[in-house]
Amino acid sequence: MEVTETISIVPTAAVLGAEVCGVDLAHLADDAFRRIDAALSQYGMLFIRNQDITVEQQIAFAKRFGGVEPNVNQQACLPGYPEVLVVSNVRENGRLIGVSDAGITWHTDQSSYPRPPRCSVLYAKEVPVADDGTVLGDTIFSSAAAAYDALPGEIKTRLQGRRASHSYMGRLLARKKAVGLTREIPADHAQKMPLMWHPLFRTHPVTGRKSIYVTEGECTSIEGIPDDEALALIAQLHQLVTEPRFHYRHRWQRGDVIMWDNCTCQHLAVRDYQEDQRRLMYRVSVDGSVPF
Ligand code: OGA
Ligand code: MN
Repeated sequence: MEVTETISIVPTAAVLGAEVCGVDLAHLADDAFRRIDAALSQYGMLFIRNQDITVEQQIAFAKRFGGVEPNVNQQACLPGYPEVLVVSNVRENGRLIGVSDAGITWHTDQSSYPRPPRCSVLYAKEVPVADDGTVLGDTIFSSAAAAYDALPGEIKTRLQGRRASHSYMGRLLARKKAVGLTREIPADHAQKMPLMWHPLFRTHPVTGRKSIYVTEGECTSIEGIPDDEALALIAQLHQLVTEPRFHYRHRWQRGDVIMWDNCTCQHLAVRDYQEDQRRLMYRVSVDGSVPF
């Protein structure tokens, strides 16, 4: 077992995010895990560099945060590992081996589900690199908690306690519009995925901190507010959440394990690389609770 005294949590210079140093996820002691667990709630996203772990070790690490279930998108999972979503632009025999358009518009994971995942754990196996050595395919995180704190008091008061609808199809259509969706949307998805209502301002189950839980495109209405006004408010909230002053931009290295709290932050995958610049990541999501 690892000597846990070596663990340190080093906050980024941004309003969210911290690096966890001095751990090997293949051998992680319980007290080191407890510090990581607490830091995730506190900092919203964490990254750990230079990890060399098997897929079983990644799943085992994710399971320490909570339950892990088969991913809804089984076609894009690692064969034999229904809980491991492959996030990748790699093709084998002409066919994509995973989801190549994951996260290409601002979002939090699976927010159109009754219990969106508490967090996701993403492991970089290959990162795209430009000819000049620049790493591409950054992921940007934005603090929806800091954005909530920055909201004018009258908007907080007006929207306190209201819920917004989250639409799975809305998200897919927003992605199609923004960057071109590469996968087919099965025709039965709209019926299978009814609108889901969640509070506009979500309270973190551990820290009690409030966050804006709204995404443009995916959120299509606010209860008790006429649609044109609601859409303008959603756009305004989205604009605030995604302001650069709330960002931490993760520049990937192969071997990074990163995780993010789906209540406290939103994230965006920067799609600035080409087909032949391989990106291969494994994602495991951890069960969450009903947003309140
Ligand atoms: C995800 C996601 C971002 C990325 O897997 O949920 O949003 O940069 N990924 O791959
Ligand atoms: Mn995501």
